[in-house]
Amino acid sequence: MPDSMKASMILDKSYQIAPVDERIYGSFIEHLGRAVYGGIYEPDHPKADEQGFRKDVIDLVKQLQVPIVRYPGGNMVSAYNWEDGVGPKEDRPRRLELAWRTVETNQVGTNEFADWAKKVDADVMMAVNLGTRGIDAARNLIEYTNHPGGTYWSDLRRSHGYDQPHNIKTWCLGNEMDGPWQVGQKTAYEYGRIAKEAGKVMKLVDPTIELVACGSSNTDMPTFPEYEAITLDLAYEEVDFISLHQYYGNRTNDPANYLAKNMDMDHFIKTVISTCDYIKAKHRSKKTINLSFDEWNVWYHSNEADKEIDPWSVAPPQLEDVYNLEDALLVGSMLITFLQHADRVKMACMAQLVNVIAPIMTENNSHSWKQTIYYPYMHTSIFGRGISLKPILSSPKYDSKDFTDVPYVDSAAVYNEEKEDVTIFIVNKHLEESIDLSIDLRSFEGYSFSEHIVLEHDDLKAVNTSSVESVKPHSNGVSEFQDGYLNTRLSRTSWNVIRLKKA
Ligand code: AHR
Repeated sequence: MPDSMKASMILDKSYQIAPVDERIYGSFIEHLGRAVYGGIYEPDHPKADEQGFRKDVIDLVKQLQVPIVRYPGGNMVSAYNWEDGVGPKEDRPRRLELAWRTVETNQVGTNEFADWAKKVDADVMMAVNLGTRGIDAARNLIEYTNHPGGTYWSDLRRSHGYDQPHNIKTWCLGNEMDGPWQVGQKTAYEYGRIAKEAGKVMKLVDPTIELVACGSSNTDMPTFPEYEAITLDLAYEEVDFISLHQYYGNRTNDPANYLAKNMDMDHFIKTVISTCDYIKAKHRSKKTINLSFDEWNVWYHSNEADKEIDPWSVAPPQLEDVYNLEDALLVGSMLITFLQHADRVKMACMAQLVNVIAPIMTENNSHSWKQTIYYPYMHTSIFGRGISLKPILSSPKYDSKDFTDVPYVDSAAVYNEEKEDVTIFIVNKHLEESIDLSIDLRSFEGYSFSEHIVLEHDDLKAVNTSSVESVKPHSNGVSEFQDGYLNTRLSRTSWNVIRLKKA
């Protein structure tokens, strides 16, 4: 066998970044395309439950252990009247949905979504409309969802069959308000003021909630990061999180450059942390604003197809990217980046969850299936709970079109003291070669190797489809643990999950 490239790592249980907030494994369901209708909800489906929710989809979501789901948008929320989606279904209006140019039937709304979230064991992260609406609609909604009873809006909820409040704890103050595509786009000054006032009033209704203010829609926005700075300057005391959104694509078919894009995400996170801390210093505040990366994923495969969709239809197949192995590797690297920033990234939502740029796909009236990106998301969500450790990594590097010194090996590790296990997540980005990695684990005395899961395929462009699952993990990774060192061979372009347990 020819010599492989070599890399080494020291993993010490005392090199701790921070406890992982499980909410970094959140996701997102927007009233967009077939995410809701034909995705989570399909009343005529043979596997629909008594409320019309697909049980096969519920099962796939539960396997991911998604702790929190953002809802109902996204761009959609900026022209949404939440009142349209509550009360008797037959009375709910059909509306033009302006963000995605469809017809919204409102057959699913706040109460049904709260029920669905319970079924998948997730909390709701609710977004309020700060595009066409403002303080009044936001305070009424939170009175409706969170106040026990004895007032107009809370009693309306009770009259709709929900005696107990939903107690939604996490709220987004609008969505991507800097974007020209947003209904009711706002300058940073306009947005900062409304975020402060809406947030203040929402916390008067329920002081236990946490609020996420919009940051820039992505790093290419001309007002990034000034938008974050002005917004936080105006609303620092009211908000708890600033939001980050970023999608990547491999439009020029340059895999080496594409797989390096989590370096851009890393830079984005560091810039937003600096911006938050500058405003903290300016305000002489003791409060730290954390990051909610509440939209992230790969999004580009469906861009052309979406241009062909006729407007004003109900639940058309929009944003239905079919993901390949290289997408799964970048998704894995993005999750690794979140773990490396576990001290400040406390929430993140893979956008989205079902059918729309999603790990889970459904066929109408038929079965559901897992995309390639399902697997790194599932592995990190299941095994990545505990303390994020800082691997001291020495890896060969490469240069690509937009990046220099890209380590071929990307890694994060999570130590679960209670369960006495440690999981190391690794991507090998090398397009041709396997890499031999030696990991110094001497601080984990009494631990032994338990599993090496690998996601790989000969073809970087291999996808899963509704009928064939070509890209799925196996547990035959090559690893050997001896005298406190784990020696492992990382096959080219692979996602690896190495697990150790106290014997
Ligand atoms: O997730 C798809 C869309 O991407 C969301 O609606 C919007 O917030 C972002 O631009």
